[in-house]
Amino acid sequence: MLKKNDILKGVVSALGSNGEGIIKHGDYTVFVPYVLPEEEIEYKVLKVAKNCVYGKVLNVITPSKDRVDAPCSVFCKCGGCQLQHLEYEKQLKVKEENVKRCFSKIAGIDVEINKNVTGESPFRYRNKLQLPVSFNGKETVIGFYAENSHRVVPICDCLINSSWTAKLISAITLYVKEFNLKGYSDFDGSGYIREVTAKELNGSLIICLVLTTKKLVGKDRLIEILTEKLGLEFTLYINVNSKPTNVVYGEEFLLVHGKPEYTGEMFGIKYKMGVRSFMQVNPSVCKKLYGAVCDNASLSEDVTVIDAYSGAGLMTALLASKAKKAIGIEIIPEAVEIANQLALDNGLSNKITNYQGKCEVIMPDIIAKERQQNTNVTVVLDPPRKGCDYAVIKAVKGSLADKVIYVSCNPSTLARDVGLLTGALKYDGNEIVRVKDYTPLYEIDSVTPYDMFAQTKHVETLVVLSRVLNR
Ligand SMILES: C[S@@+](CC[C@H](N)C(=O)[O-])C[C@H]1O[C@@H](n2cnc3c(N)ncnc32)[C@H](O)[C@@H]1O
Repeated sequence: MLKKNDILKGVVSALGSNGEGIIKHGDYTVFVPYVLPEEEIEYKVLKVAKNCVYGKVLNVITPSKDRVDAPCSVFCKCGGCQLQHLEYEKQLKVKEENVKRCFSKIAGIDVEINKNVTGESPFRYRNKLQLPVSFNGKETVIGFYAENSHRVVPICDCLINSSWTAKLISAITLYVKEFNLKGYSDFDGSGYIREVTAKELNGSLIICLVLTTKKLVGKDRLIEILTEKLGLEFTLYINVNSKPTNVVYGEEFLLVHGKPEYTGEMFGIKYKMGVRSFMQVNPSVCKKLYGAVCDNASLSEDVTVIDAYSGAGLMTALLASKAKKAIGIEIIPEAVEIANQLALDNGLSNKITNYQGKCEVIMPDIIAKERQQNTNVTVVLDPPRKGCDYAVIKAVKGSLADKVIYVSCNPSTLARDVGLLTGALKYDGNEIVRVKDYTPLYEIDSVTPYDMFAQTKHVETLVVLSRVLNR
């Protein structure tokens, strides 16, 4: 029997889907983060659950030939990256294998996985940042939460984020010191400053300080410090959030300095970045991904595209510009407003209809209406991590859509949903089960991972499906 604090040795057999090493110890499966396959390690048992055990590496006895020195000083402490210690080419492979394993294990589908598509750089790629600010009993600290905790690990830089990160942290640290400002405490709700968020578009930043009150202390000096330290065009907002909640922003945003929003452009479509807008975190990979969605959607002047989970509508507009029309469906009202404005700004209002609501509720009717009109339909699905509700899958299966493009940030729910679309899986009212001999309703044309989140365990995947004719 294993117990907490046992110190053991073992050889890592593989990496799990969270990037952690897997070690077999008798009947137990042990998960140990920050180690690599084939490494012999010494580890300490932290927690024993039913058949699985969580451990912490104490010593790498035999390092893997794929191990590299992680360049970040808080790797293993901050919880943001899981794979910095693995050579980058191998990281790409690990993610390809993870996607393949999910298809095989979850849906029983043996599928070829294309090469993982990379961005301009595996470091300094992120264009947005969210830094909690807290009081640790002695001083105010700015950083990231340690994994699975609300303890802030102080940082001076983040190597996967753009190079303005260190300058921004240094500016806020100076401001906090000069005015003796206290970071927020989750424990009793005390403190003044809760979060610093920032996002960048083409070298301009939108910074937001989340405060517990409306009064911005030392406003002019803060703007002076940011101007000196950043050397970039920037906008400053404050947001007021005094509620004991994990939600970052409160309702109220106040513009303090700079332009309210900035304009970008992708494949001829103009879009705006405001303080509330959603942005993909890796612009160079995002451009390749959106380009591939459009290239694979069989777009022409007689195709209607249904863009489910459409967010702020950039992809909807890209699709609409090459199709007869596009229909966006999105749950968040503010995102739908932004999407409508984006359609208007690009002269595409006559080709785009954005619906606000839950895909599982409104998509079946939207699809039924399109079917009545006998139009050729392409469906694009880009759901959150939990994947599509079964009502959405059912609606797509009944849609007669020639093409289905599925963009996913979670290979497990992707495999489940693609299994349901092809017919390899079925939902029998209670649970999802494998189907032995099935004639596919949709065929998988391609499965391509996109390394949107280099150095982390996460991967974005694009699946292109074609309807099998005559069914
Ligand atoms: C992964 S994002 C994709 C956004 C967009 N396609 C893009 O590329 O920017 C998923 C989106 O689905 C929205 N969403 C979540 N659940 C939803 C639901 N049940 N029905 C409609 N939209 C939903 C979220 O608000 C979010 O904007």
